[in-house]
Amino acid sequence: MITLGVESSAHTFGVGIVDKGKILANEKSMYKIGTTGMIPKKVAEFHAQNSGSVVEAALSKAGISIRDIDGIGYTRGPGIGNCLQVGQIVAKTLAHKLHVPIVPVNHGIGHIEIARIRSGLRDPVVLYVSGGNSQILKIAGGSSRHYGVLGETFDIGIGNMLDNFARAAHLNPAWGSTVEKEAQGGRYIEMPYTVKGMDFSFTGILTHSEKQLGKHSLRDICFSLQETSFSMLCEAIERAMLLTDSKELCVCGGVAQNARLKEMIGLIAAEHGARIGYAENEFNADNGAMIAFVAERMLKAGLGVRLNKCDIEQRYRIDSATVVG
Ligand code: FE2
Repeated sequence: MITLGVESSAHTFGVGIVDKGKILANEKSMYKIGTTGMIPKKVAEFHAQNSGSVVEAALSKAGISIRDIDGIGYTRGPGIGNCLQVGQIVAKTLAHKLHVPIVPVNHGIGHIEIARIRSGLRDPVVLYVSGGNSQILKIAGGSSRHYGVLGETFDIGIGNMLDNFARAAHLNPAWGSTVEKEAQGGRYIEMPYTVKGMDFSFTGILTHSEKQLGKHSLRDICFSLQETSFSMLCEAIERAMLLTDSKELCVCGGVAQNARLKEMIGLIAAEHGARIGYAENEFNADNGAMIAFVAERMLKAGLGVRLNKCDIEQRYRIDSATVVG
């Protein structure tokens, strides 16, 4: 069964092609954010202009014809409405023209499941950290399996916090990954630290860091911002592992590409004798392959939906999405 997946929840328009779990293609075009952030209408226009060429590039990479596709998946949410709509329309059009089944996929489930399954993990505690999301999860439920949220951010995602700081500090490009580069060799200055049980908050540390600009070196602020916010995640993840008596840990999402975060989480896992699995970086960034990967499993489980039921949901909660297998 060959499945094509479309991802368009934010700045990336991605198309992936999967055959029985094997990734044949993972192509994308990415909107350049610049200093203004994401203006939904402009990003959606970018996706609409580039969608055709990304589909063609994915088919070419996979070495198949559009007629070889047996099923379609697309990101239902969460994400930016205008952007989600472009992916939904592309996916519905393809399913209609090809007469193949279609299934909506939760974006977070895409990140987690491609990381969990490719890492060979069975039932891990999951740290999902990206621009819009920061959550600690574990599979729950009996007949209807889903990810239960053990802890999450009270306000903004950690990636959003790092990106916002990068913009305030006039870093170029204004990404969390630029903060990571700037943090090399910094010294620690005190930062607000907010963990409540397994929940955490990032707006306080963002405001405080912005106020330190000009008072301390950028290097020291970036270093301290990372050390403190990552420590907050480590405390919460350690608590979740102990509470659930888990010896497996899965880390995924855009911020999981950060080498220092990986190092700190690795130390926690080692201390508790836990096996740790990460997604490869191409799947931590937004991508179509993760949507195709999950869609293939959902379609095999009979979770395809009629075309007129293919909607989008900007606030599609991960704990309301079914997990297959
Ligand atoms: Fe994402």
